[in-house]
Amino acid sequence: MTERGTDERMCADFDQRAPDYDDWWLGSGSFAGRDRPGWSAEVERLIDVVRGLPPARVLDVACGTGFLTRHLRGEVVALDQSARMVEIAAARLPHARVVQGDALPLPFSDGEFERIFTSHFFHHLPPGERAAFMADARRVGRELVVVEDARRPDAPAEQWHERVLGDGSRHRIYRRSFTAADLADELGGGEVLHEGRWFVVIAS
Ligand SMILES: C[S@@+](CC[C@H](N)C(=O)[O-])C[C@H]1O[C@@H](n2cnc3c(N)ncnc32)[C@H](O)[C@@H]1O
Repeated sequence: MTERGTDERMCADFDQRAPDYDDWWLGSGSFAGRDRPGWSAEVERLIDVVRGLPPARVLDVACGTGFLTRHLRGEVVALDQSARMVEIAAARLPHARVVQGDALPLPFSDGEFERIFTSHFFHHLPPGERAAFMADARRVGRELVVVEDARRPDAPAEQWHERVLGDGSRHRIYRRSFTAADLADELGGGEVLHEGRWFVVIAS
């Protein structure tokens, strides 16, 4: 069992889940029965926030299926470690460059982007890895925009989940949630672009 926040087992997990991943966003498939009051309306608001970011040379780190990436404007590069996520994102994002690779560290040069965007990736990084990722993101891009799970009163701020993959192997995934103030604090300050029941977005 491994304990790196985003290790190869976690990526295998996302790889397996890629074809159904958007069910989480859409409240379909295995998420159809979830009790998530206001979820769909807030996803729409989140999309508006992403669409409202000024066009820029932007890197989406851990883009997944590209569900939010497609709303980024400008010259878009998207990175994910999972081959199946990249395949889905590339089909969905004909005008972006979608690349498969590890974000830790980012395989890009200093100052290559005006903005680093990342959604629901930061929360899988334990504190030391978050600090390292942030430093690296600031090396590669001027502005950092982070979309995350909002802290909910019914869930602990951080936890390790055990997951069992199709091959029976077990691994642990770290996950934390943030208030807008927590997240801004971690990023060393920033503007709250959205704070709702389900999501927070900080530009720093
Ligand atoms: C929870 S999903 C978020 C996907 C997308 N950003 C979204 O909001 O829908 C996390 C993504 O991080 C990717 N990932 C995990 N660890 C990674 C790493 N070290 N480098 C690059 N991508 C990684 C996974 O493959 C997965 O697509």
